[in-house]
Amino acid sequence: MSLLKSLSLSALKEPVDPSNQYLNNPNAIKFGEALFNDPSLSSTKTVSCASCHIGANAFMDSRTLALGKQQGIRNTPSLLNIGQQHWFFWDGRKDSLWSQALAPIENPKEHNLTRTELVHLIKANKRYKKQYKEIFGLSLENKALLKLPQRAGPNGNIKVLKKWKKLSTEQRKGINRIFSNIGKAIASYVATIKSQPSRFDQYVQELATTGDSRVLNDSEKRGLKLFLSQKSGCINCHNTPVFSNKEFHNIGTGIKAKDNGRSEVITELIHDPFNCLGDYSDAMPSQCLELKYMNKDKHALSGAFRTPSLKGISKTAPYMHDGRYKTLQDVLKHYSEIKDKKSLETDLPVINLSTQEQRDIIHFLLTL
Ligand code: HEC
Ligand code: HEC
Repeated sequence: MSLLKSLSLSALKEPVDPSNQYLNNPNAIKFGEALFNDPSLSSTKTVSCASCHIGANAFMDSRTLALGKQQGIRNTPSLLNIGQQHWFFWDGRKDSLWSQALAPIENPKEHNLTRTELVHLIKANKRYKKQYKEIFGLSLENKALLKLPQRAGPNGNIKVLKKWKKLSTEQRKGINRIFSNIGKAIASYVATIKSQPSRFDQYVQELATTGDSRVLNDSEKRGLKLFLSQKSGCINCHNTPVFSNKEFHNIGTGIKAKDNGRSEVITELIHDPFNCLGDYSDAMPSQCLELKYMNKDKHALSGAFRTPSLKGISKTAPYMHDGRYKTLQDVLKHYSEIKDKKSLETDLPVINLSTQEQRDIIHFLLTL
């Protein structure tokens, strides 16, 4: 029973992030929600976070690969309960939700903005300007920030980069401060995105209070039992109330597809100016232990991706980092057949499941 309880939403803790002091600030959450849904924060004025993370659709888009200004290379993950994770993106190349939020804004395939363009856009919007000042106690009319070039930033084309390099250190720091604060507001909102109790949660609740429950049918119960067993091994990686151990594993979906996952982002993560140990973080170095002690063994992390949450899985097809599987049948087939591909050096045990057992597990997954 204690294992079942540990998987139920009632065991969910509130998100914590010492690197974002505005996480639970109601005004920041409101400001962040407006920014999340605002397509004017993109070069074409058509792309917002909500274009790909659609609220009515478990905060994802049902596409195989994401589509912003152009098509991306990865599947859009659902944002349900995302505040529970320590690492963000399929390869975990960001260590906080606020630092994560900065990436799509500058990504040429997504919002395609430059850093100074974002500052201009916030300044030009009366409501945003007022909200910004109220939350962060800083005016956007700071002397160093007057007369900024329209398009400058460290991640654009050569022209954009040259203009960025011409700015003084003080100007660049001022812009980065605004940029990171915008990320913190968006993150405060994103951390409030949670799933509603499902049939599984109802089942655990009833079992715990009355000792019996008919919420799940026989196939679903068999699937649950198998899921928890070492015969399937699913529970070793898909655990906690969000059914993710929050760590990185190679399950034979990387390498071959030439997307090496976690191993390729370790260096980038250590040098990211917006990480937990950087100038724009609100955390003390002693609060950044995840980053400090992360596994840096590139060989061991080759082809590894962060274990995704399985909550709301019925609504989040297609599956895996590249959206390669359209159905849960395909996913279970993958797990059952991977033993034949020893050369992939996966973290998986041999998983022998009959067709009926695979079906039962799928029925169980659909109760999440
Ligand atoms: C063009 C579609 C698109 C847009 C626009 C977009 N995202 Fe995403 N989002 C994705 C994709 C694709 C990924 C996974 C990328 C990867 O792992 O490399 C992702 C990943 C994420 C994650 C990490 C999820 C996880 O499981 O680790 C968060 C959080 C997120 N996006 C929030 C945002 C926010 C906030 C914005 C707006 C500032 C935004 N996204 C804009 C497609 C999009
Ligand atoms: C060694 C850890 C590990 C084990 C064991 C494991 N998984 Fe996974 N699972 C992962 C990782 C990592 C991914 C993402 C891989 C990718 O995106 O390429 C994943 C992806 C999934 C997905 C797709 C989720 C999505 O949103 O795309 C499902 C469904 C799933 N696993 C179910 C299961 C089931 C059922 C079992 C037991 C038969 C199982 N997993 C065993 C680590 C594991």
